[in-house]
Amino acid sequence: MSKIVLLPEDLINKIAAGEVIERPASVIKELIENSLDAAATKITVELEDFGKKQIKVSDNGEGMSPEDAEKSILRHATSKIRSMEDLFSIKTLGFRGEALASITAVSKLTITTKRKEVLEGFALQMEAGNILSKNIAAAEQGTSIEVRDIFFNTPARKKFLKTDAVELKHCLDVVTHYALANPSVTFKFLHHNYTLLHSPAMHDARSTIASIYGVQTAKELLEVKYQDEQMKITGFISKPYHVRNDKNQQVLFVNGRWIKNADITNAVYEGYHSTLFVNKHPVFVLHLQLDPETIDVNVHPQKQEIKIEQKEQVAAAVSLAVREALQNNKLMPTVDVQTEQQITFGTTIPRKEMKTAVKYPFEPSAQTVFAVEEASAGYNDEEIIPSVASQYQSKELIQEKLPPLKLLGQVHKTYFLAETEGGLFYIDQHAAHERVMYERLMDQYLQGKVEVQRLLQGEVLEVSTAERILLEEKKEELEQLGFTLESFGGNSFAVKTIPLVYGKVKIKELLYDLLSLLENKKSILEKKEEILTSMACRAAVMAGDAVSIPQMEKILRELNQTQLPYTCPHGRPTLMKVTIDELEKKFRRR
Ligand SMILES: Nc1ncnc2c1ncn2[C@@H]1O[C@H](COP(=O)(O)OP(=O)(O)OP(=O)(O)O)[C@@H](O)[C@H]1O
Ligand SMILES: [Mg+2]
Repeated sequence: MSKIVLLPEDLINKIAAGEVIERPASVIKELIENSLDAAATKITVELEDFGKKQIKVSDNGEGMSPEDAEKSILRHATSKIRSMEDLFSIKTLGFRGEALASITAVSKLTITTKRKEVLEGFALQMEAGNILSKNIAAAEQGTSIEVRDIFFNTPARKKFLKTDAVELKHCLDVVTHYALANPSVTFKFLHHNYTLLHSPAMHDARSTIASIYGVQTAKELLEVKYQDEQMKITGFISKPYHVRNDKNQQVLFVNGRWIKNADITNAVYEGYHSTLFVNKHPVFVLHLQLDPETIDVNVHPQKQEIKIEQKEQVAAAVSLAVREALQNNKLMPTVDVQTEQQITFGTTIPRKEMKTAVKYPFEPSAQTVFAVEEASAGYNDEEIIPSVASQYQSKELIQEKLPPLKLLGQVHKTYFLAETEGGLFYIDQHAAHERVMYERLMDQYLQGKVEVQRLLQGEVLEVSTAERILLEEKKEELEQLGFTLESFGGNSFAVKTIPLVYGKVKIKELLYDLLSLLENKKSILEKKEEILTSMACRAAVMAGDAVSIPQMEKILRELNQTQLPYTCPHGRPTLMKVTIDELEKKFRRR
């Protein structure tokens, strides 16, 4: 007798449900996707008892005929694809035709639906995959699906649910993400009639972000706009210093589908390059429009993973898009004046500030930095002579990344103070110089020619045996960074060269720094940013160092030439503006 039997349909559905429906949040995700596919402009999600008792998703989409409603809960029943070709160019969120079948297999479900052109609605009641009743019903145009007692017939699955708070957070995440992806759709999310999220339909994505993440976050986000022949990337990213300790506000959409993809996420971080603090995470909401034929969304039953045919190109474009957004935007933080009650998106200069700028005209003078650029040699103390300042007199101003500045002096041996149009700049001397050093080192390192200085006497370095082995192993890589070491017998090394950027730095400290960074690291190349950041930190002037005006000018001119002058390589701001507006308020002139 044959041992093999074909499983009954209801058991097949239960098994399939295990893959698609993990928790209340998965039900919400599938139902919202169906509503969006049905062109709804209003979607309401209501929960009772954290979704365990009831999940209801109602939309004003196109609705279903009674016949389609009955078919909708069958497995492999879909209106969205017809053929193999369709499977490889999917434009809808659903396509597998199994979500409703899976949900109904593990719950008690009621579908109420009405199409626009008919007068009467239709209601279908199901329990564990079986039809209990079907009736004519009063209904508005659209579809409303109630899912009660989820997992009532799969107690094992129910046991795997996390605490109520965790499950609710998952549910909120789903609604939040779909609301972010669809600014023109009104989303409402209620738990026991308590509104947890309300995102009204908006014309622009930034306003939607404001209704979800708050006005302040939305106001500070930078817009990303990128297009090439293969793709379009739009959305928002946070400024490098408006970062978070978690990755909760990072959302990716590909062709409107909320996805998770480590390659793309890494590419976003790559785009920030050295501007982020370690263990700090940017906020981003990014939409990628890719040719549907170049991605495969049929990788996983939950449809949150996708395969991208040209993932290297896509990652490179994402990095570039982020980088361009950072560079195009003046990232200088201004002290928050909080006079603007109304949110004005898109305008970089508040109207008031423009007015005061005229009232207190900024007159460039002999002290103005960023006059016509000088050819600047490598930084070291000896080179700077006090007469440098006079060379900048009466030269035409050029505007580069930083606005024209008139240097006023140093505060607390830590900040430079400079006048600029509409206010004052405080410049963190260490952060600013660190940025300059970092970019110079990185540039030289990537070109394979870190400029070095020869140490005549050759400093001797004593290390432990483990460190000696490490140093020997990394000898070549260290040479690429500008450090030449020669064995001096035992566990000693003579340091023959160090990078030119270091003035009278304590070589030992520098090398011990490097050693501790090199431990556990696979290669310098992989960790180049961290290592060069640490080197730049050591090479830069410190807070507490007295800096002369010509030295300040030099640092600022060099900062002006960096690619990302607004943050140090650790992600701290290099400069901060206090507006005249702020000063006038403080002095109660207004
Ligand atoms: N809210 C809705 N409004 C209109 N039609 C709907 C709605 N929800 C489901 N349907 C119809 O029911 C069908 C089955 O839905 P179901 O979610 O099971 O499958 P799917 O969306 O086609 O694919 P997937 O399993 O990938 O989600 C859909 O193809 C659609 O025609
Ligand atoms: Mg679906």
